[in-house]
Amino acid sequence: MSRVAELFETLEYGPAPENAAPVIAWLDAHERSMRLWIGGAWQSARTGESFETLNPATGRPLARIAQAGESDVDAAVGAARAALPAWQNLGDHGRARWLYAMARQVLKHARFFAVLESIDNGKPIRESRDIDIPLVARHFYHHAGWAQLRSTEFEGYEPVGVVGQIIPWNFPLLMLAWKIAPALAAGNTVVLKPAEFTSLSALRFAELCEEIGLPAGVVNIVTGDGRTGELIVRHPHVDKIAFTGSTEVGRLIRTATAGTGKKLSLELGGKSPFIVFDDADLDSVVEGVVDAIWFNQGQVCCAGSRILVQEGVADHLVARLKARMERLRMGDPLDKAVDIGAIVAPVQLQKIEELVRRGADEGAAIWQPSWSRPQEGFFFPPTLCTDVAPSSTIAQVEIFGPVVVLMTFRTPAESVQLANNTRYGLAASIWTENINLALDIAPQVKAGTVWVNCTNVFDAASGFGGYRESGFGREGGREGMWEYLRPGGQRGGAASLPAQATSSIAEPARASTNDGATPTAPAGSQVSMTGVPLDRTHKLYIGGRQVRPDQGYSTIVRGADGRRLGEVGAGNRKDVREAVEAAHRAAWAGQTAHARAQVLYYIAENLDARRGEFATLIAAQTGAPTAAAAAEVETAVQRIFTWAAWADKWDGAVHQTPLRNVTLAMPEPIGVIGVVCGDADPLLGLVSAVLPAIATGNRTVVVPSQRWPLAATELYHVLDTSDLPGGVINIVTGARAELTPVLAAHDDVDGLWYFAADGGFADVERLAAGNMKRTWTSNGHARDWHDARQSEGREFLRHATQVKNIWIPYGE
Ligand code: NAI
Repeated sequence: MSRVAELFETLEYGPAPENAAPVIAWLDAHERSMRLWIGGAWQSARTGESFETLNPATGRPLARIAQAGESDVDAAVGAARAALPAWQNLGDHGRARWLYAMARQVLKHARFFAVLESIDNGKPIRESRDIDIPLVARHFYHHAGWAQLRSTEFEGYEPVGVVGQIIPWNFPLLMLAWKIAPALAAGNTVVLKPAEFTSLSALRFAELCEEIGLPAGVVNIVTGDGRTGELIVRHPHVDKIAFTGSTEVGRLIRTATAGTGKKLSLELGGKSPFIVFDDADLDSVVEGVVDAIWFNQGQVCCAGSRILVQEGVADHLVARLKARMERLRMGDPLDKAVDIGAIVAPVQLQKIEELVRRGADEGAAIWQPSWSRPQEGFFFPPTLCTDVAPSSTIAQVEIFGPVVVLMTFRTPAESVQLANNTRYGLAASIWTENINLALDIAPQVKAGTVWVNCTNVFDAASGFGGYRESGFGREGGREGMWEYLRPGGQRGGAASLPAQATSSIAEPARASTNDGATPTAPAGSQVSMTGVPLDRTHKLYIGGRQVRPDQGYSTIVRGADGRRLGEVGAGNRKDVREAVEAAHRAAWAGQTAHARAQVLYYIAENLDARRGEFATLIAAQTGAPTAAAAAEVETAVQRIFTWAAWADKWDGAVHQTPLRNVTLAMPEPIGVIGVVCGDADPLLGLVSAVLPAIATGNRTVVVPSQRWPLAATELYHVLDTSDLPGGVINIVTGARAELTPVLAAHDDVDGLWYFAADGGFADVERLAAGNMKRTWTSNGHARDWHDARQSEGREFLRHATQVKNIWIPYGE
């Protein structure tokens, strides 16, 4: 007996290498020189350039990869565009059949793909075989379903067009599937660029597309480095960019696409917290850490790279972790008994080494197991860093390697503070046997995915994506499909307009709609109709109070007939900042949806009570006929009712993920949203934009119509009497072109909506790259606020919220 037990302790694992011969034969058949897949044909890069891709486990070259240049990218985009009409005419079922065929092909070639992926990327075969490739097939299956249901489940929506997709090297084929499957299911065609270190599986996938006879140009694969990626991003005939990779490149792409009208989704880096409470099952926690940070050598955007452990159990956890780390096996990725494979490339290895050195310099205790790493290839041992200050480099920067930092906390509140002490927000995991505690903490952590007592689990039915600088947009599930669709009839692309707002607040142009029905006044006096607030100096509305503008300047507002109607405060940078602070202080998101709905109904009631005054005011400013102005107020009241109705009906979902899990998809407010209004329909435009934001729990900083701001300033009184907590709606009047960039560049503004029909949206998108705030613009096009199809509905709710997926496993 004791001998068997001893053997369990001492027996070494024998080598169990996977057979690499079919992959080697495939590379040889290509003479180790790969081409581009464009318009259904294999082509050499017209640049004539190529580069080597290496096997990270040996450092030896595998093949040469073509470096696609401008004319190659142009040809690929052209092919994708040419393929669009036929692909779209194929209909839902036709496309579903192709996606199903792709799923089947991946399964039929699963072993080949797993080996190829491990050779090219360095990841252990256990992972590529049991996780990556099955998930690839699952994605194609799941999206064959969305293709089948596209017209009914996304009624009124259209495909975006040609999609440029740029993916990283950590999950090469899986990222391809995450990108291509939803794009094709929605009816788009694609140009995809794999990462330069790991292009091979994408090229093999293209061969399968060829073998099954996928129509030419529906999928195009261009290889190359960042320069090729940039050519795709900047190509004028690409309608959308979907990117996964570093936050730095994500920011470049955000800036490059600003003002172009291209749709954009970004899945970026992370520094995900792994929160361990003192009642957690520590053995499970240790295995959880293995999955969190040593899965794929830690080269995972959602890796649990920050362990936050409650003080009382920290020492136990560290001891058990070290014992476990001593038993991890590192080596040949094709060995089925290996836990940790190779780092993808020398440059990544150097980055990891450099950051760990920096951690040591900054005072962290660095611990690595006693066994030595392989001599050949690019390997880095699993590493545990303790004595880490929350502000230190290794606690803040994404290392993207098998390196985890460990910090302690005392109370649940402190765990949340530490968890959110990062610019990222991709994922988090929470370890506790107390489900009440887990479900209390999960909504407080700013992250797109929260795993309870599990980590790094994914499924095609559940959306995946980030908060904050981890990017925006979701991949997977119904949530992910929206990224590849746009409302039908909406004009694609950007309006060609001057870059700046053109109207001037000081001397607004006269409205051409003045038809004589506008109230008139004796010459030389101000409008004298009863109810029109004459010559009042309206201040700004910040934190529920009227406050004087910082500079103390006011601006005259003139009516359609040129007469002076009053003055409004000329807000500036400082006023915007005050408003953002007030918005952050406002207690609103924590209120129940029912309570929010009641406030919204009350706003409608109070506006309705003053409908005559507002109508007169609008007519006097815009020159609209009185009846039209009255109709605007009437529609505004109705619209507030609509958003009050939605406040408690924007539900989440429970996803059917195949694991023993309840996956809760919860829509959460974005946070503080800036709303910049255009001039059309000054009251209706404002309530249509602001009310959906606050109905869903956001707080807002609003720049109302620059030209006709008096409906907004008059609204202060309605808000004051409607039980709206101060700071939920802040209104800063003034010059749009001056105030918008302040909001767009502000790091504490989480989202910015820009509805003015001018070129200001380009600045919004460019400046938003700073903190990766979510933007929503009309691309310079005017929106008809009287048309309910353009001005209410779920699209507003989707922009007002982001989905957090909370995974809760069940069973003993
Ligand atoms: P990267 O962000 O540079 O590369 C990702 C993809 O973007 C590749 O296909 C690359 O060719 C392409 N690309 C690079 N520059 C581009 C540009 N200007 N325009 C368009 N496409 C461009 O990431 P890289 O250099 O491979 O890794 C650097 C760091 O980024 C890693 O150490 C890691 O911290 C992070 N990273 C994060 C990933 C994630 O999934 N969140 C994935 C890969 C890297």
